[in-house]
Amino acid sequence: MQTHDILRLLIEVAMRVGKHIKAQQAGVMLQDISYKGKHDLVTETDKQVEAALVEALGTLLPGSGFLTEEQTVGYQEREYVWVIDPIDGTSNFIHGVPFFSISIALKHQGESILGLVYDVMRDECFYASKGAGAFLNGQVIHCSYNRILDKAMIGTGMPYSDYSKLDAYMSCLKDLLQQTRAVRRLGSAALDLCYVAAGRFDAFYEYGLKEYDVAAGALIVEEAGGRVVDFRGGNQFNASSTLLATNSLVHDDMLRIIQTHFK
Ligand code: 2AM
Ligand code: CA
Repeated sequence: MQTHDILRLLIEVAMRVGKHIKAQQAGVMLQDISYKGKHDLVTETDKQVEAALVEALGTLLPGSGFLTEEQTVGYQEREYVWVIDPIDGTSNFIHGVPFFSISIALKHQGESILGLVYDVMRDECFYASKGAGAFLNGQVIHCSYNRILDKAMIGTGMPYSDYSKLDAYMSCLKDLLQQTRAVRRLGSAALDLCYVAAGRFDAFYEYGLKEYDVAAGALIVEEAGGRVVDFRGGNQFNASSTLLATNSLVHDDMLRIIQTHFK
């Protein structure tokens, strides 16, 4: 099957499953919630959505493997691997804050070739395929053209379980609050990345992220003309758990400030 055919079917699957999440959102009950860590939550909806996606995507591409947040399946050594976060922004989902997403990437021989992030509450579907640009609900998107840090809108994620770099994080934030227009913490890294791709944010950074949080969004940023690196400036953002995504124009300024604090 051609990549654009897979993408078309992937969008259909995400839209269908997204409707289920939206329907569940109003009724998340406390008893649905379990704890993976002190602040790391999972609901029955996360698990149901993941199971529905795994079934649909396994049928779409028979023989493909899976890397998923809720770990329902494996086969990560396969030629094609789906990287899935069924709900990115589960804390928002639980609290009724309407900023969470489905995040799905498809890797071929280890390289991301498709990425989709669906904001079910706003019905915004962001997607990209390698070399073919980035889109929001069918319209081409591009990163912002702002090169002035003072005018930049920055997204970030605050540490919620790994506090090992908390001091560096806070001193970096202190600097950025003074050197940028504004800093926002919205709570879904996958969607934050798409805000960089759509030119809403000029940059986004966070540490402690997992591959399923960022694989789709990172491809969407790159296809929208942006840059994605780890805090060392390399390309290990999937594995290293540090990530900076920019419109490419404020990239050097952002990386310099981050590296001043994260040694
Ligand atoms: P998740 O909802 O899929 O776990 C935002 O900082 C990122 O961290 C999100 O992508 C979110 O992904 C993850 N995260 C996990 N637990 C969190 C928490 N308690 N607070 C904020 N973000 C959390
Ligand atoms: Ca999740």
